[in-house]
Amino acid sequence: MPDLEALKKEAALRAAALVQSGMRVGLGTGSTAKYAIEEIGRRVRAGELTGVVGVATSEASDKLAREVGIDVRPLDPQPLDIAIDGADEIDPALNLIKGLGGALLREKLTEVQARRFIVIADHTKLVTRLGEKAPLPIEIARFGFLSTIERLRKLKVAGEMGLSGRLRQPGAQPYLTDNGNYIFDAQLPEGTDPVALERQLKGMLGVIETGFFLGMAERAFVAAEDGVVEMVS
Ligand code: A5P
Repeated sequence: MPDLEALKKEAALRAAALVQSGMRVGLGTGSTAKYAIEEIGRRVRAGELTGVVGVATSEASDKLAREVGIDVRPLDPQPLDIAIDGADEIDPALNLIKGLGGALLREKLTEVQARRFIVIADHTKLVTRLGEKAPLPIEIARFGFLSTIERLRKLKVAGEMGLSGRLRQPGAQPYLTDNGNYIFDAQLPEGTDPVALERQLKGMLGVIETGFFLGMAERAFVAAEDGVVEMVS
């Protein structure tokens, strides 16, 4: 039985095969996106791809992409031809939760500018509703973060008073994003309407961005033991 790493790689290779010479490519973040970046780099080094420009969604992906030979440039207003990234949850309509790796803000800024946003994942990321397995990462400003968390905890979601969750803190200090912000990981109650909650959160003082990626993905390559399934939105 293939291990999860082999499955992630299989999905990533399918997406990386869509990259063509001259394309501007959004490079995702995380353990699945890593395989896509490595494969695009391999194709560049082999001379199979020329004139490809990458836009990285995190400091880590920026570093990796440069190491494997991709010409990395900052995000500018020009559209991207394609963006390839992993996800933490994928619902049947290809709505996503992302950001367990902490890169949600740069990922959303980059992927919203892509003509095609392709998701790559192993089958464990499939859910019937967003929030089923993963928390929703919410990037919040460091300044006054306790006040913002207090406001989040009072938010009415799916008839329940208060969004439960916790500040992401893997060690002695809170987790810091590449943008110098903190993350609140929220548990979504059953019955949560992602569109309504996204609107509420984006209107809330202190909230910078959420890990909801709604209506953005064009397709997903999802790898399971019996092969890669292509899902189209
Ligand atoms: C990074 O912030 C995330 O959005 C990742 O894309 C997501 O967590 C998927 O990561 P893995 O491929 O490592 O599971």
